[in-house]
Amino acid sequence: MNTALITGASRGLGRALAAGLAREGFALIIDGRDAAALDAAAQQIRAAGGDVTAISGDVTDPGHRAALRRAAEAAGRLDLLVNNAGTLGASPLPALADYPADELRAAFEVNVIAPIALTQLLLPLLRPRGGAVLNITSDAAVEAYTGWGGYGAAKAALEQASNVLAAEEPGLRVWWTDPGDLRTDMHQRAFPGQDISDQPRPESVVPAFVRLISQRLPSGRYRAAHLMPAVS
Ligand SMILES: NC(=O)c1ccc[n+]([C@@H]2O[C@H](COP(=O)([O-])OP(=O)(O)OC[C@H]3O[C@@H](n4cnc5c(N)ncnc54)[C@H](OP(=O)(O)O)[C@@H]3O)[C@@H](O)[C@H]2O)c1
Repeated sequence: MNTALITGASRGLGRALAAGLAREGFALIIDGRDAAALDAAAQQIRAAGGDVTAISGDVTDPGHRAALRRAAEAAGRLDLLVNNAGTLGASPLPALADYPADELRAAFEVNVIAPIALTQLLLPLLRPRGGAVLNITSDAAVEAYTGWGGYGAAKAALEQASNVLAAEEPGLRVWWTDPGDLRTDMHQRAFPGQDISDQPRPESVVPAFVRLISQRLPSGRYRAAHLMPAVS
């Protein structure tokens, strides 16, 4: 059974992706810091017939990352790593001129260092299977939105790390993908007090990711909006 490890699957895009990949027949390993929310996500997947191992913890914690690796070893194979867990950083979004250095450092820990470190740990399992790494990034990595300098700089670093990883690991697929604006807790934190109910639900972009993964498209940068299957 194809096995995928998805970080940050207790809510938002990660939870929707986990449910979608379970429907595609993937066995899953998922994480998130909120154990109760993670358990609820896992129960929903199991109720729909999915196979899921939930391990609560913080991706910035090396001990937690080691536990994720042990779970992948116990599964006997790993075909896909989705580095989805992310943080917005400071909210309301400060200009770079005012960005607190500790909050900047924390955003880089979650959005850049942790996914690279987790990938390093899991490459020995992914390589024999010709597996794939999917890093969730953002348009803020490439556009100069005011207030988005901390988050955007971290996502830009993740994008370039993905780009280099793709060159260094030609036997794998490495994708870095902008999901587009989604109605999630993170998006609400970016726009505190604003009505974001007009934003698409995270489930809406799952078919784009399923296409990327199932068709094993070439390594590179993708936008979910461009991957959506045509509506007939
Ligand atoms: N929403 C958007 O409009 C949008 C647009 C572009 C890109 N993105 C990207 O899409 C990805 C998912 O975002 P989202 O909107 O779904 O965010 P979200 O609703 O805030 O969910 C983030 C998920 O990551 C987990 N997480 C956060 N920090 C973690 C940590 N240190 N260790 C382990 N898990 C952690 C959270 O669970 P816990 O809190 O339980 O740990 C949660 O499951 C992110 O990489 C984000 O940057 C989102």
